[in-house]
Formats: sequence, structure tokens, C-alpha cells
Amino acid sequence: MGYDLEKIPAQTSPHSTYQDYLDADRNEAPRAFREVGNDDMGTAPLDPKRYTSREFYERERAMWDKVWQMACREEHIPNVGDYHVYEIAKRSYLIVRVEENLIKAYPNVCLHRGRKLRDESGHAEQFRCPFHGFTWALDGSSAHIPCEWDFPDLKQESFSLPEIHCETWAGWVFINPDPDAMPIDQYLDPIKRHYEPYLWDQSYLGVHVGKVLKGNWKVIQEAFMESFHSLDTHPQIVGSVDDFGCQYDTWQDKPHVNRMMVPFAAASSYVIDQVTQQDVYDEWRGRRPTESDQDYRTLEPGETARTAVADENRAMAEAATGEDLSKVSDAELVDGWYYNIFPNMMFWGGYGPNMWYRFRPWQDSESETLMEVGYILRHPKDQPKPAPAPFNFLTLDQKWEDAEELGGLGFVLDQDTTNMAGVQDGLNATFRPEVQLAHYQENRIRRTHRTLDMYLDD
Ligand code: FES
Ligand SMILES: [Fe+2]
Repeated sequence: MGYDLEKIPAQTSPHSTYQDYLDADRNEAPRAFREVGNDDMGTAPLDPKRYTSREFYERERAMWDKVWQMACREEHIPNVGDYHVYEIAKRSYLIVRVEENLIKAYPNVCLHRGRKLRDESGHAEQFRCPFHGFTWALDGSSAHIPCEWDFPDLKQESFSLPEIHCETWAGWVFINPDPDAMPIDQYLDPIKRHYEPYLWDQSYLGVHVGKVLKGNWKVIQEAFMESFHSLDTHPQIVGSVDDFGCQYDTWQDKPHVNRMMVPFAAASSYVIDQVTQQDVYDEWRGRRPTESDQDYRTLEPGETARTAVADENRAMAEAATGEDLSKVSDAELVDGWYYNIFPNMMFWGGYGPNMWYRFRPWQDSESETLMEVGYILRHPKDQPKPAPAPFNFLTLDQKWEDAEELGGLGFVLDQDTTNMAGVQDGLNATFRPEVQLAHYQENRIRRTHRTLDMYLDD
């Protein structure tokens, strides 16, 4: 619906905070929701060169070599011998299922003259380099050195592929090329703890879409790290997404994870005086492409949009998982929690479908990014894990909306996309040496840059 922008009050504080929503919800939300961030990082501006300069991009290489990063899903490599090629900022890695319950990762580079061992993901009994035939077993040990007599210094027993750290969490496979990597449990705190209840052993990749976008990887990612832009970029959603009631959490002692929690099925403070609960409900449902008109209903007396959506989502999640979710809080069934894992990943929690994003420099460019969007779906415990959705790699002239599997999200992502090239061009055009960030609503962006500074190669 359209809103009268003239009637929008100059807000100084939200109508409801996220904690107010939790207080009013049915079933107490987990303690994780009450853990408010404590990291006040001040108000200093950022240097626009962090997004535009090649020199800064080159300094970031040291960071990519030292951080935990999501390489693929476990279901991308379900069988022994399956491997996934994961690439970022010139680096290339092989993620291999070596045994039924063992996944290893190696740099995807032949130890002879350096050809990439595999050009794309697939299945192999062993890795034979296509150039001269040097061969390694799945476990990385050397299986064949052609013309061994001609390599008098090589010893087969010590010519293994170098292994890098590889761990799994919630069905994701993470790697870290740094031999001295921080333990992943420490790196992923508090998301690993907060996401404990959500049946990840019953999860699979149900939607996977990607698109190359103009803009530094941080420009693209930061478009999704605050809800402050909703009123101007997504005016159609503020009747059912409380952009102003968001909670933004950064933690001083947890530099790799931050979050924002966005109240859904609730009107923004900006328009709350212009809508009824039925309006909020209708608007929310209108954005749900999987539901047809016949599902629309009139709210019962005393029912709110939030309780109605919670009940519907509870029923859907119970059907998908086969579990009893009657004790689960409304927040866990309704809201959007955007947990960011440094440097370039975003994962939603709750009982699903859970969105996720990943942002990688495209073809080693400081001004182009491959953005991936997906949904993690649930399956009943006693059923085998479905195959992952094939990657729908949109062409440059396609819109997110063309990916029908994204449903109503595609239109919203297209709105976000309209800002990205404009931001990159503006940052290149600016005479000013600083970019401003809001103290609270953009604190996650500041946190990410602070953490990046910890890894830069000076
Ligand atoms: S480069 Fe791989 S076998 Fe020669
Ligand atoms: Fe947006």
C-alpha cells in the first residue's frame, strides 16, 4: 500500500524496540535474543578508498588468507570422492569428501608446475593433474609421480597436498588457510551457540542464486547490514517490516560475528499511525509468493499480524520438519535475524526457510562482486537429505526477480541493487575523504571495518 510521506513523523526513537516485541510475544524467546551488544565504537568516518583503491584491495589479500570462510554445503559433496572447487580473490581450494565422515581441504594447485588440479567441482577416485599426470589420493597423499627417476629430490611419502583447516557447522563447510587459525568455535561465537536449536541436521540448500554486481564486495555486503535504508529504498515493506525497531548488536570480544534482528509482520514506527493490524497482515502476506489469494484471511479479534504469521509459520515449519514446535517463541518463527560472520557471510536463524548471503570479489576485481543468495530448507528427520539446488547464475542483464525461486525477495534485492553501482561510482567521484556512518544503526559496518583492520597486511 502507499503511505503518505507527509504524515511520517520525524522519529527520534522507535515506537517499539526489538526487546519490546519479545516482551509481548507468546512463549519466551531464547536468552540469545536478550544478549544486547556492548561495543560502542564511536562515530569516526571511513576512508572511501577502502572501497575504491586497488592498493587497499591488495592489502585485503592477507585477510582472505587468514579467516574462516564458508566454502560450500556438506550436501554439495555427499559421496566419498566428491569435491567442490571454492575460489576467492585469486585463491582456489579443493574441498573433498575423503571418507563418509571426513572432509578435507587443499589448495587446488598441482605440486609439479602449479596447474590447478581441477577446474570445476565434480567426482574423482584420485586427483590426476591434467598437465603431466602427477596424482594424489583423496586423502592428499602422493599416488603417482610420473617419470619418478627424473625427480631425484622428490620423495613420494612426503609429497602430499598441503592440508588446510576444514570444519563443518550447521551443514556448511568452512575452511581457513591460516595454519595458526583461531579455533572455529571461538570464531563463530556467538552464532554457533545462538543457532544451536534450529535442526541443522535436517537442513539442506533449497535455493541458490547468484549475480555479478558492480561494487566493491564491502559496498555490496553493507547494503544488507542495516535496515536504515528501508524507508527510501524499499518503501513498500515498511508497513510490515519494522525497520526502525531493529536491534543491532556488536560485541567487543566477538569481532567476527554481529547481528541485526528485524521485527517482521509489524509496521515501522514511520507508518504505524497509518495502518491497522489487518493492513500489516495483508501487506506481509502479499509479499509471500508461495501463498495464493485463497489463503488470505481476516484476523480474529485480538489477533495481531505478528501472532497470525507466527501461527502460520509454526504450522509450515512443523510440516517441513515433522517436529512439535508449539513451545517455540513467535520471534523464532517470524523475525529476520541477519547474523554476519566476518568477512563476507550472512546467515539467518530460526526454523527456516533461512536465507543466507555470501559476497566474493568477482574475478579478483575491487569493483565487482559475486553475490550469492540462498535458502536453507528443512526435511523430516527420517528422510534422506535432498540434493542441493543447482546454482542459478544470473546473467548481467537478468534481474534477481527473474529467479522465480527467490519469490518476493527478488524484487527487494533488485531495489537494493539499484543503489550499489551508484555507491561505487559516487565513492570514486567524491572529493571528500570520509564516509559517514550512523553511530547505532550502522554499527555493524563499523565493526566489520575494525575487524578487517586486524587482518590487513601493512
Ligand atoms: S603441472 Fe601438474 S602434472 Fe605438471
Ligand atoms: Fe535492502
